[in-house]
Amino acid sequence: MYCVRKITEDLYWAGGNDHRLALFENIHPIPRGVSYNSYVLLDQKAVLFDTVDWSICRQFLENIEAVLNDRNLDYMVINHVEPDHAACIEEIILRYPDAKIICTEKAFMFMHQFGFPIDDKAIKVKEGDTMSFGKHKVAFVSAPMVHWPEAMVSYDTTNGVLFSADAFGSFGALDGKLFNDEVNFDRDWIDDARRYYTNIVGKYGPHVQALLKKASNLDIKFICPLHGPVWRNDFVYLLDKYDKWSRYEPEEKGVMIVYATMYGNTESAASDLATRLVKKGMTNVVMYDVSKTHVSYLISETFKYSHVVLASVTYNLKIYPPMLNYIMDMKALNLQKRIFAIIENGSWAPQAGKLMRELLDEMKEMTILDSDVTVSSAMKEDNVDSMEAIANSIVDSI
Ligand code: FEO
Repeated sequence: MYCVRKITEDLYWAGGNDHRLALFENIHPIPRGVSYNSYVLLDQKAVLFDTVDWSICRQFLENIEAVLNDRNLDYMVINHVEPDHAACIEEIILRYPDAKIICTEKAFMFMHQFGFPIDDKAIKVKEGDTMSFGKHKVAFVSAPMVHWPEAMVSYDTTNGVLFSADAFGSFGALDGKLFNDEVNFDRDWIDDARRYYTNIVGKYGPHVQALLKKASNLDIKFICPLHGPVWRNDFVYLLDKYDKWSRYEPEEKGVMIVYATMYGNTESAASDLATRLVKKGMTNVVMYDVSKTHVSYLISETFKYSHVVLASVTYNLKIYPPMLNYIMDMKALNLQKRIFAIIENGSWAPQAGKLMRELLDEMKEMTILDSDVTVSSAMKEDNVDSMEAIANSIVDSI
């Protein structure tokens, strides 16, 4: 059975949800599922904006058929070729062989690489090109590295609809609620939106900034991303989050303590610090066990908070592997502008502190507070002064 929603008088959401997929990109857990959004414009010409992941292809085809209602499909605009959106292009070509494909030169090349038969169908567009489909004139805006190099966004100049590709998307299935004002975004969605942005697009902050600059010149009435809710109001809220994330500015002054513990002793030291911070009035403190928290959540939280404490046991004379994985992911995603404090633990040769410091030193605009704490096996009275000093340094820097 088809399942579609009307966005404007002639624009339809024709995507779908996947609750069965456990790992997005086979890496990131999505316990709330994910939506793959696709849109159909019914003007003098019928235009499809992007397709969906293969997992929901059948639902998608039923939706397209229902919206077209015996019309032919004239155009397919491909804003992004990653297979979670492009997997069904070939299926659409088979069913609607007359449809032309509008895309960037690079998207054309990628579709070729994926083996789609598009040679006689492609209309290549570049920044600033426009196409009229009847009453709607759509402008194409390049958006390289948001999230792949071929990406573009499409802006309907007639009704202010921005088809924003991966930008402004979120993990989480829609479950019938399509618009941002049909959900409590700040309560129920923001953590998944941040986790999606930071892990998928987080590395490309300057490119996102470039897109935000272009978007600021548009009179946007709707933002239609490829994942998550469609936005029809409260744009300032969303744009502000994107601006902060893409400039690597924290959302909140607060302390995130990430600890790597084998038998609970490093956790105990981390708890001691958390308690000291709270007693000094810094109550915005969160703690995460690096072994129990998927790194995508850690990355998301690291983008959120201003201060990060890394507390790690030494393991084979190195950083505990899950902690190393977290720091390397932070580095890969180009995270910057955070204030760090370090706690290390080791029973015979503590090394983790020095090694973590070296890795953080290789990252941009990271401040490491001077006073490390070195715990020998378990925190004792002789660690109290240094723990108190680290707590004071954190509070002072906030
Ligand atoms: Fe949702 Fe970059 O694909």
